[in-house]
Amino acid sequence: MERYSVFALTAVMAVVFAILAAFAQILAWQVILWIGSAAMLALFVVGIRDLVQTRHAILRNYPVIGHMRWLFEGIRPEIRQYLIESDEDEEPFSREARSLVYQRAKNVEDKKPFGTHEHVYDPGYAWMTHSVATKHVEDWDFRVEVGGPECRQPYEISLYNISAMSFGALSGNAITALNTGARMGGFAHDTGEGGISRYHRAGGGDLIFQVGTGYFGCRDKNGNFSPKLFQEQAADPQVKMIELKLSQGAKPGHGGMLPAAKITPEIAEARHVPMDEDCISPPSHSAFSTPLEMVDFLGQLRELSGGKPVGFKLCIGHRREFMCIVKAMLETGIYPDFIVVDGSEGGTGAAPLEFSNHMGMPLQDGLAIVHNTLIGAGVRDRIRIGASGKVVSAFDICRTMAMGADWCNSARGFMFAVGCIQAQACHTNECPAGVATQDKLRQRAVDVTDKSVRVANFHRNTLKAVAHMIGAAGLEHPGEISPYHFNFRQKMGETIEGDLIFNPIPEGSLLDGTCEVEALMSRWRRARADSFERPERIASHRPGHKVRRAVERAPAEPAAGGGGDAVRAKA
Ligand SMILES: Cc1cc2nc3c(=O)[nH]c(=O)nc-3n(C[C@H](O)[C@H](O)[C@H](O)COP(=O)(O)O)c2cc1C
Repeated sequence: MERYSVFALTAVMAVVFAILAAFAQILAWQVILWIGSAAMLALFVVGIRDLVQTRHAILRNYPVIGHMRWLFEGIRPEIRQYLIESDEDEEPFSREARSLVYQRAKNVEDKKPFGTHEHVYDPGYAWMTHSVATKHVEDWDFRVEVGGPECRQPYEISLYNISAMSFGALSGNAITALNTGARMGGFAHDTGEGGISRYHRAGGGDLIFQVGTGYFGCRDKNGNFSPKLFQEQAADPQVKMIELKLSQGAKPGHGGMLPAAKITPEIAEARHVPMDEDCISPPSHSAFSTPLEMVDFLGQLRELSGGKPVGFKLCIGHRREFMCIVKAMLETGIYPDFIVVDGSEGGTGAAPLEFSNHMGMPLQDGLAIVHNTLIGAGVRDRIRIGASGKVVSAFDICRTMAMGADWCNSARGFMFAVGCIQAQACHTNECPAGVATQDKLRQRAVDVTDKSVRVANFHRNTLKAVAHMIGAAGLEHPGEISPYHFNFRQKMGETIEGDLIFNPIPEGSLLDGTCEVEALMSRWRRARADSFERPERIASHRPGHKVRRAVERAPAEPAAGGGGDAVRAKA
């Protein structure tokens, strides 16, 4: 019965305080005691409610005191982050990684005393090999030209850019700060799939216009792709490249729905959606359904944009499907100018846990598939590869480039630069830093003038660090980094050179059938340009399974991230 003791105590204290108040001589004491009695009475009423309610078992068994559970759960992330978490705990970014971004963004000292905290003999530890003949690499503004022969307006993209995050997922102030920083530093800012908002335009920085399954900003009344609207958007000189989004690492193959109640006038304006209808972002595209149609659509986007570089972003799922797309390129002669590979370790404003944790291929593996398939198909030299997935330090950039990327993007790195503290409340509309919220009061915390400078600082200082690292390796340009410059600690303490793990296959070897990597060669043989479907059904050996069709489909549940990582609002 002890579990009712706090509840019982509230009743006793309410009576005791009331008696004392009745006999108190001094007015001030009378007031204090009556307030005490009223407070205890209120808690007693809460206890009664706890006892009779049926929703929470804990409260039925522990009236009044049971509420402490919710209180502690509410402050658990803060207690962990400030008091318990170590510098290396990845939650998902370690304190060390976040501090590095904060320091570079604030342009303050980013050096560390006393040596590494890394466990250098643990499996997974990686290091870059340095040279005796180091180089002094003074210029840090590394760029790579994107745009194949079909492209009439090639773009020299920086080696580090802001990854896709929509207005809606991020606040207007955060978007403006990011875009202004991009202009100051001369790098690119991906719009995310929520269209080009007034906040993207405010900064005047280079934009990559992302076209997602909802075709936000370029859709007709029925949600289908509108060539006319796309042409208008893409013609904006601020738009430098077009990115067709197939999937993102944190929730590949997952759509979203933004209920009408959560659509603000600014969101409706950016997305070209009505305010009185739910805004659906389907899991796949309606503009194409086969690989051939997809590359044809890419060609159409390039023409409509006046010849700007066109590419697609994906997290690798079925490897064969990526090969289907490459076969469609070979068959049609229509090539994207770039492909962005996103890893499953990537971020999102809101996603089902199972998707974030267990769908999609991590960056290193996905990048190897894309890089190798393009080499094996003999088209790597005409298609650039961007990569994203927890790339926040110079080492991350160098390693990702060694594995085949031509440039890197970062979403959460730049979120830290504008003040994100990794509170992981992006889906609640209650972001404490004002970065991932639509709450006007909260987003005031993001001072655009100050934070845009931080964005530019973070970009510049990170690339300067890249320059120092490649100089130490005896190289002059990040394009020279190869897997050979990396070592990885394996199980049992032994080490392996990067070129043994990320060894590119011979040029054209998928085409002539000489590729010795069976996992690639067998999938290449099964891949078809005309369909994403598996050429054969794989027997399950588990008969009797079927799907019962819903006669009346229940209304879809509103997802916090309508349209990719769209709008945060409290459900
Ligand atoms: C708040 C937030 C919103 C995002 N919105 C989009 C989006 O609209 N489109 C998209 O392709 N990816 C989106 N992403 C994924 C990022 O662009 C990126 O691919 C991923 O987070 C990996 O990079 P990171 O590890 O540097 O965050 C979003 C990520 C975050 C954190």
